[in-house]
Amino acid sequence: MSETATVPTAPLRARAEIDLGALRANVRALRARAKDAALMAVVKSDGYGHGALPCARAALAAGATWLGTATPEEALALRAAGLPGPILCWLWVPGGPWRQALEADLDVSLSGLWALREVVAAARETGRTARVQLKADTGLGRNGCQPADWPELVAEALRAEAEGLVRVTGLWSHFACADEPGHPSIAAQLDRFRQMLAYAEEQGVRPEVRHIANSPATLTLPETHFDLVRTGIAMYGISPSPELGTPADFGLRPAMTLSASLALVKHVPGGHGVSYGHHYVTPGETTLGLVPVGYADGIPRHASGTGPVLVDGKWRTVAGRVAMDQFVVDLGGDEPPVGAEAVLFGPGDRGEPTAEDWAQACGTIAYEIVTRIGTRVPRVYVNGEELG
Ligand SMILES: Cc1ncc(COP(=O)(O)O)c(C=O)c1O
Repeated sequence: MSETATVPTAPLRARAEIDLGALRANVRALRARAKDAALMAVVKSDGYGHGALPCARAALAAGATWLGTATPEEALALRAAGLPGPILCWLWVPGGPWRQALEADLDVSLSGLWALREVVAAARETGRTARVQLKADTGLGRNGCQPADWPELVAEALRAEAEGLVRVTGLWSHFACADEPGHPSIAAQLDRFRQMLAYAEEQGVRPEVRHIANSPATLTLPETHFDLVRTGIAMYGISPSPELGTPADFGLRPAMTLSASLALVKHVPGGHGVSYGHHYVTPGETTLGLVPVGYADGIPRHASGTGPVLVDGKWRTVAGRVAMDQFVVDLGGDEPPVGAEAVLFGPGDRGEPTAEDWAQACGTIAYEIVTRIGTRVPRVYVNGEELG
């Protein structure tokens, strides 16, 4: 997990600059949209590649009141670093660190009886009351409890609550297609969620929070906000889908700028093969720039021949294959100095491509572009006043 802010002291091969000021402003914009609902900052997968700890701190400083992670280990690391307040983690397997989670006062998500039984055992061992959130599968078909199994899960949770072993702090679910405006599954999931909530509440569950909204739902479906919204991608300033709008349409600004220093600039004749497999051959005499990042740094190999890069004021395209540590751009005869900045993506306002441009070039989503940026790329934090 990325730690605290770093200030560059030497030229860097590559860097992912994280603008925590943008992240704070994004959180404020999302809070305004969420109105009375609280905001959970989703910082799983090392804050979608942005660094979980600095991003979690910045999000809390801007008014988020919950943190969310996939794995318990991610949540435990946040708590160990001293992050306060409720933290929900939702991706458990049998034999998981239930005890540690109870001791760290985490909220744990339960999708089935096996998980409830494991957490109850940990509560008996530790003498602590577990904060549990029951997750409903309202139609995503991934994690969560099926409607047919819900009465049994609710009943057993209430029995454990009556014994003081658990406290049901949340009832929740997750959308399948909130990023596809008008998709019929949205209304169907919302109906099912309301029914499953009503059932649990009739049985006597009194949750602190009921929640289903991710970023696209937070941005476009106010009727889904309930008590809490869980925002990941939008908090990092990226639109969940170009179909919904650009970041600017929602008052968001991408927080990550990925750049590298050209490691070589050289003249080559026409007909010169470039990179493994010679999938690019120079069409005439030209200059080539060597960008010292590759798939080990999270640059998708699918960007071979397609990924856009801003060098010397112009968009260039990855020439030939992306290799493990480097790729090449055809500079078309331009001669920027070695060491010149190559910007792969950023907010876009200096003319650079965005993570969304990379997603389209690679046939994927911007979530994957930022989250994959590898640990070998240092994160450099700017505008992180609250980091002290
Ligand atoms: C359960 C859950 N909630 C919320 C989120 C945040 O989603 P988004 O990044 O679209 O806001 C995720 C991320 O995939 C998730 O798995």
